[in-house]
Formats: sequence, structure tokens, C-alpha cells
Amino acid sequence: MQLFRASIAHFPKQTTQFDSDIAIFKDGGLLVDNKEIKDVGAFKDIAERYPAATVTDFSGKWILPGLIDSHLHYPQTQSIAHYGEQLLSWLENYTFPTEMQFADSEHGETIAKVFLNQLLKNGTTTGFVFTTVHKSSSQALFSAASEIDMAIVAGKVCMDRNCPSALNDCPDTAQTDSAQLIETWHNKGRNRYALTPRFAPTSTEAQLAALGELAKQYPDVFIQTHLSENLDEIAWVKSLFPKADGYLDVYDTYNLVRERAVFGHGIHLTPNEWARLGDSGATVAFCPTSNLFLGSGLFDMTAARANKVHVAMATDVGAGTTFNMFKTYGDAYKVSQLRNEPISPLEGFYLMTQGAAVAHALDHEIGNLNPGSTADFIVVEPRFDELTRLRIKEDADFDDMFFALSILGDDRAIDQTWISGTCRYKKEHN
Ligand code: GUN
Ligand code: ZN
Repeated sequence: MQLFRASIAHFPKQTTQFDSDIAIFKDGGLLVDNKEIKDVGAFKDIAERYPAATVTDFSGKWILPGLIDSHLHYPQTQSIAHYGEQLLSWLENYTFPTEMQFADSEHGETIAKVFLNQLLKNGTTTGFVFTTVHKSSSQALFSAASEIDMAIVAGKVCMDRNCPSALNDCPDTAQTDSAQLIETWHNKGRNRYALTPRFAPTSTEAQLAALGELAKQYPDVFIQTHLSENLDEIAWVKSLFPKADGYLDVYDTYNLVRERAVFGHGIHLTPNEWARLGDSGATVAFCPTSNLFLGSGLFDMTAARANKVHVAMATDVGAGTTFNMFKTYGDAYKVSQLRNEPISPLEGFYLMTQGAAVAHALDHEIGNLNPGSTADFIVVEPRFDELTRLRIKEDADFDDMFFALSILGDDRAIDQTWISGTCRYKKEHN
């Protein structure tokens, strides 16, 4: 058994009382046996309980649960940071041409590895990932994640209209390919499948209906898509689905609004849509760097809270501008400042750890450092350069440290990333 000594912070409970419910051990101990967390607490207590454990000393650093990125696109790793467009022309000009390259399965295998390296380097141990329309792109990602026993939720993108013909599915292939991928990968090892209609404008009603059938047939698979990100997109959805009572209703009509459904963005939702999301138990993925980059708008966290909607933080790479979840919270904070309702560092931390895990009904495995959870954790080195050593005191409180890193930090603050009890990334020290 391995005992790690460091400052430790996590949310042990399924809760939203951020100030009172965070557990912080300034001199903490995390006991790991093989792939699992066995105990967590004050170092002294754990060391007394397990005198035979091998101690690894990370004093001066923080151990936190591995971070969860609840919405991003692995094929867009190579098309991050393209100038000048809002959503619909950005998709046409940059995204679709990039995704066409994944017809070549070897290309998918190469980019899947680069993508996972980027996650690990930034302390992300679980991602909710869109692949491309090609079945092989999902195979590539699940295979690469399996090699390192990483908990990935992913799905083949389905689109059967309003996209280049090279990316065009049809209702039948969307259903049979998705079903085959579910049978092959869902709940195999730590892989989980997400039915992935790209967004309403690129699916016919027949395709949405076919995917809704699968959602009924496999009630524990995830669903992921986009919702109300951009005003032109919303107007387009209205013209394509004239009978629907708004954007969310398009998905609702086909049984795609439920627990374990994760909707990217939700920037321009109506009060009825907020209420329906709250009732359904679905999750909205808040993607601040993407929303700023594409000029989509400012997420309304206050409405989400008021309607008891699950919210999880996400990068949305490649419209998102970073793989780093700390920096993503930094932009969430700026968005919330523009709305005059700042999101606290503890809430930000919750939305990328336990809050996300609870939203996705995965908190028995990820998002916290509770005994019984899988040993996915990160070692953070807050004082990694001249400026952070000046700003962040050696004995800084967790929320001050986390906030300063959300503004000043990047992958240099991630010292190590552990997955299933194995160190999978270690920063090179100069
Ligand atoms: N809406 C439909 N597809 C996409 C995508 O790839 N990225 C973002 N940000 N929004 C979308
Ligand atoms: Zn997206």
C-alpha cells in the first residue's frame, strides 16, 4: 500500500454547501491500494493506522481528485485557435474539414494519443468526448484510453444533414454503428458510451428518433450534444423544426432529455427550458473559454442554480482555448464577473470534480478521494515559477491557491497525474 503525504482537498459528499463541505487536510495522507483509494485524512492518523504503508512525501504540494472535463472534441485538438468566426461559419471553415481527416483510422489513432497526453498534462483524468462520424475514431480513443485504464465517456458523432457529404451518416448507420460501439465499449473496463447527435441542425428527425430508441434500450448510456449556444444556431433550429416548442423540445421529443444527458453550452435558454432541464436531471456543460472565443455569450450560472440544474465545467476544445481546467474556471470567473455574480473558487473546483461526478452519477468512482473511489488524482505544485512563488504563500489556503492558479497557472502547476493508482504523467523539472 502507498501512502501519499501532501496538502489535500476534495468534496467528500454529494453536496452544494461549498464552504462547509470541502474537506481540507493541510498535512494530509492518501492511502492507495493497487487501483483504489483506501483512506484519506490527516497524515498522522493514516500513518498510525497503516504503519506498513510505503510513504511518498509531496509536502508543499497539493493532492486533488483528478479533474473532469465534461465536454470536448478530440478531433479538434489539431484545429484549436483559429481566428475570426462565430459558431456556424467556424464549423464550416475549420471543424468539418478537420474532422474529414478522420476517415483515415491511423490519423485517429495518432490524434487520440496526442489528445490523451494533453489531458494528462493538464490534470484531467476523465473526459466526455465527441469523436467524429467515423466509427474508427471512437475505436481509436477507447483503445488508447484503455491502455492507461482511464475513465473516458465518448461517442461517435451522428449527423445526417447540413454537413459535407464525407461526414454524412444516415439514420440506419447512426443507429447500427452506435449500437455496435455500445456493445463493444460501454462499461468495458472504464469506458462508457455516449450517444452523440452533434446538434439538432445536423440531424433529421428520423436520426434523432433512432438515437432516442437507443437511449431507451440502453438507459445507463450517456447522451451528449449541443444546445442553445449561438443566436443564429437557435434561429436555424426554429426553421428546421417548426413544430417544436423551442430548441430543448427538439431533443425532448425524441427521449434525449434525461439523467446522464449532457448538453454543451445552454447560453440562451428560456425560463421553461431551464425548468425542464432541472426537472429532467440532465446536465449543462459550462464551457466559458469556448463561449468567449466564439462570441457565443455569457452563461447564466444563477439561473442554473435557481432551477437546480446540474452544471459541470468543460473546455469544449477546439472552440475552447485550453485543455487546462483551472484556467477554464478562470474564464468562468470572468464570465460571472461580467454578470456581476462571481462564481467562487470552491464552486469552480466543485464543478470540475465532485459536482461533475454527481451530475453524471459517477461519484462512486471519480471526482473525490473517498475510500472506494478509483485512485485518479493529481499532484499540484502551486509555486512553480517566480511569479507564483511571489503571489502564493507556502501556507496559502486552498481557495486562494486554487484561484491564483486559475489566473496565473497552466500545465506547469500539474506535477503528476495518477490514473487507477499509476502515475501516467510527471512534469519534467528544468
Ligand atoms: N455545435 C455543433 N458542433 C459543435 C462543435 O463542434 N463545437 C461547438 N462549440 N459547438 C458545436
Ligand atoms: Zn462542443
